[in-house]
Amino acid sequence: MKYGFFDDNALEYVITTPKTPLPWINYLGNREFFSLISNTCGGYTFYKDAKLLRLTRYRYNNVPYDNNGKYFFIKDGDTIWNPGWQPVKTALDSYECRHGLGYSTFTSSKDDVEAKVLTFVPMEDNCEVSKVTLINKKNSDASLTLFSYVEWCLWNADDDMKNFQRNLSTGEVEVTDGGSVIYHKTEYRERRNHYAIYGVNTAVDGFDTSRDAFLGAYNGPDSPDAVKEGKCTGSVASGWSPIAAHQINVNLKPGESKTFIFTLGYIENPEDDKWEAPSVVNKKPAIAMLNKFKTEEAVDASLEELKNYWKELLSIYHVSSSNDKVDRMVNIWNQYQCMVTFNMSRSASYYESGIGRGMGFRDSCQDLLGFVHLIPDRARQRIIDIASTQFQDGSAYHQYQPLTKKGNSDIGSGFNDDPLWLIAGTSAYIRETGDLSILKEMVPFDNDMSVAKTLMDHLKCSFNFTATHKGPHGLPLIGRADWNDCLNLNCFSEHPGESFQTFGPSEGPVAESVFIAGMFVKYGEEYAQLAELLGDDAEAARAREEVKKVYDATCTAGWDGDWFVRAYDANSNKVGSKECEEGQIYIEPQGFCVLAGVGVKEGLAEKALKSVEERLDTKYGIMILQPAYTKYHLELGEVSSYPPGYKENAGIFCHNNPWVSIAETVLGHGNRAFEIYKKTCPAFIEEISDVHCTEPYVYSQMVAGRDAKFFGQGKNSWLTGTAAWTFVNISQYILGVYPTHNGLSINPCVPEDFGDFNITRKYRGATYNISVKQNGAQKGVSKLLVNGKEVEGNVIPYEEGVKEYTVEAVIG
Ligand code: BGC
Ligand code: NOJ
Repeated sequence: MKYGFFDDNALEYVITTPKTPLPWINYLGNREFFSLISNTCGGYTFYKDAKLLRLTRYRYNNVPYDNNGKYFFIKDGDTIWNPGWQPVKTALDSYECRHGLGYSTFTSSKDDVEAKVLTFVPMEDNCEVSKVTLINKKNSDASLTLFSYVEWCLWNADDDMKNFQRNLSTGEVEVTDGGSVIYHKTEYRERRNHYAIYGVNTAVDGFDTSRDAFLGAYNGPDSPDAVKEGKCTGSVASGWSPIAAHQINVNLKPGESKTFIFTLGYIENPEDDKWEAPSVVNKKPAIAMLNKFKTEEAVDASLEELKNYWKELLSIYHVSSSNDKVDRMVNIWNQYQCMVTFNMSRSASYYESGIGRGMGFRDSCQDLLGFVHLIPDRARQRIIDIASTQFQDGSAYHQYQPLTKKGNSDIGSGFNDDPLWLIAGTSAYIRETGDLSILKEMVPFDNDMSVAKTLMDHLKCSFNFTATHKGPHGLPLIGRADWNDCLNLNCFSEHPGESFQTFGPSEGPVAESVFIAGMFVKYGEEYAQLAELLGDDAEAARAREEVKKVYDATCTAGWDGDWFVRAYDANSNKVGSKECEEGQIYIEPQGFCVLAGVGVKEGLAEKALKSVEERLDTKYGIMILQPAYTKYHLELGEVSSYPPGYKENAGIFCHNNPWVSIAETVLGHGNRAFEIYKKTCPAFIEEISDVHCTEPYVYSQMVAGRDAKFFGQGKNSWLTGTAAWTFVNISQYILGVYPTHNGLSINPCVPEDFGDFNITRKYRGATYNISVKQNGAQKGVSKLLVNGKEVEGNVIPYEEGVKEYTVEAVIG
């Protein structure tokens, strides 16, 4: 069952009922000011950091699930309704929500009054603009009252939810222009230079800034007293819970419409220019912001600018194939999700509270793989930021705070896959841009510039860390965990409340990871290539020797007969082996080792992928492991803590499905690679939105596995490395346009019946118009013409100065 449809021309997903199985959200904002907005107008807003600078309050774990939001109420006689249906939930005569790229619109009607709401964050301003239009479609005059409502958060969202003994006394506001502009200035008197505003471009008939006054002390936003009365109270909050609400009386003739523009903004003042009078905040920048978005023309122009920004970005990789689902994912939604992971990392979603994790070292490096072609300059800075949190021995803080860019010492280091992801991200950046200068940048260790070294030295530390941290089988030590945060082989946590990951020692001398071995083979080779590019052939040769040792160990100690072992635990027992009672086979080493090329020539790769198909595959995707753990294994940790079928315990972790799909392309299996791609791909499972539940336009981190009660149900949508890896898979391996150091390589691996397709790719300042002809084969370019000339191999030679390449490739 579907709850909407894709409008590909408009680059929008159209939701046709507010009652989606879960809130279906969108992200507004591209630089520093962000909002989450659901299809019922739920969500919240923050500046830069969802924990420390949160403008509006949201209650996670609320009942009903998705409420608080930035709401508009319309009172028409005795009927009160909202354009997004919530919070009053009056049945609407019509409803439509369109989530576009950086904006959302709502068009709803009740009793012949139509409301249109457009909400977006402009490209260059720290505000969210909402354009609200009311249209009278009755045959008679309409006498309506429009109310706005936002509830302020007292900035630090963590403290806001906990520290009531203080917070209920700190709230302060100012009101100007008869109530049109409301200033939220809690804590501005002391250590803050910033405040928030909510203003409307018209004179108002009333306002409220005290939540209790507007809602009534015993009501929620589903039944505000002021709206029921048709009249705000003019309250000025002092402590308790400050809000901003406007009341506008709107009289409309038949056919008439009126539009109002609301601006929710963040303002920062210089320390020495905070006040315009004692206790009166300096409003100059706020007034300038409000003036900028005073007219419909200005708002429309700003929206246009946003849309053009996205059109330009998405023109960098564009496919036109016979499969509209592939096209819409590649051209719109997958890339959009990659950008959202760039902006949010894992901080703020409907499943990540915005107060938990900062930026993950491994997460951010992997996210890079999905957006580096879109925003190479910002990716460059991100790489430097990430590398700056590395330790001198090559290990790294597992997480860092985006505001300070400092490593998070609560969790520390010891996740032994982390260092290698830095090579992955840097290599992707250089293959995309050719910018070798980044390797010569001086980058601090643990943010200490006095011990800075070049980025290439950092990569060497990463490489050496793995090369020098190996266990009894010559495989890399796992530390606290590797990619699978829940495989905690050194922790042995026995009591609730202990962190599975950080309770035990950061590293044991025995527990080893075959997954990290696969990574070492893949990124060790990429490191060797970078060394070569810098002219250091000796280092490249040394790296390849180290890689060879781990390759050999993987094919021997890391091989279980029909698939790769997952790990060795602290007692040197196998994890992910036939010998195990539960958890006999894991997906990660099968996907990653094969995509790295391990065991291809030995025939192990074919066997491993066959085993995946036989033992882990389901109609909704490939499970992370089987059989699921039915009891808690002290020696394995969190992985066995989840009920069977959920999360790391045999859930379908969408992040590593593309690894297997890529692995299949390495073996030339286009049919199977695409089959795997389709199983978790949102556009292909839109029809089962009632089962899948999460948004049909973005990937979720996890789909419940076969052992789970709710098999097929998605969770944790949006902020997942799945976005980057699925895009890498479809764009670079299946459609086969892969950036190498020497230019773009064209080597598609598609299903037999995929048909011809065209790709436009902007790369290093040139545009490549690529057409691929398929002669029924899955892989193997038999002919490659570049600007009419036949080229040997798969790589289009990059020529400085050439701006247009016409490329014709024939598969088979
Ligand atoms: C989750 C993992 C996640 C980790 C982060 C675990 O509880 O299952 O998916 O990576 O927490 O710390
Ligand atoms: C989510 C985390 O963000 C990611 O870093 C990790 O690899 C996966 N969970 C698997 O545990």
